[in-house]
Amino acid sequence: MLAKQVDSLLAGESNPTGQLANAAALLHEAMGWWWTGFYLVKDGELQLGPFQGPIACYRIKQGRGVCGTAWQENRTVIVPDVEQFPGHIACSSMSRSEIVVPLRNDKGEVVGVLDIDSKELATFDEEDGRWLEEIVHIIERHTVTPQNCKL
Ligand code: SME
Repeated sequence: MLAKQVDSLLAGESNPTGQLANAAALLHEAMGWWWTGFYLVKDGELQLGPFQGPIACYRIKQGRGVCGTAWQENRTVIVPDVEQFPGHIACSSMSRSEIVVPLRNDKGEVVGVLDIDSKELATFDEEDGRWLEEIVHIIERHTVTPQNCKL
């Protein structure tokens, strides 16, 4: 249901900042997560993009934290307990588990990540990963396709 809502929410709009902000708002409100947002690759690092939730760190280097790992390894990373993840970047001490899904361009390169944090342990499983990847593909289609590469 959320995937369909994201699709119709982003369709026909050409402002990627607004689209990512609305996508974060929709997911965050619907699911009641602690932090939901995007980091975008810019100048060789991940920089804070549109999000919902408490304030967050501005920049993350490749390979650092969960976001930097998802970028470096070009894969979804699920962390059931952030305290067990070496190098986790604690933007908020309330965050206990998280999932990070890469956004890719048409060449398969990572152009950003969707980062979701929860106040509960082990909030995200493989099925969440599959659905969030589906949602990220929809977001990519509306924002980072070759004809519409604005991120
Ligand atoms: N949890 C992230 C850092 C970003 S904030 O949580 C919003 C990480 O370790 O990559």
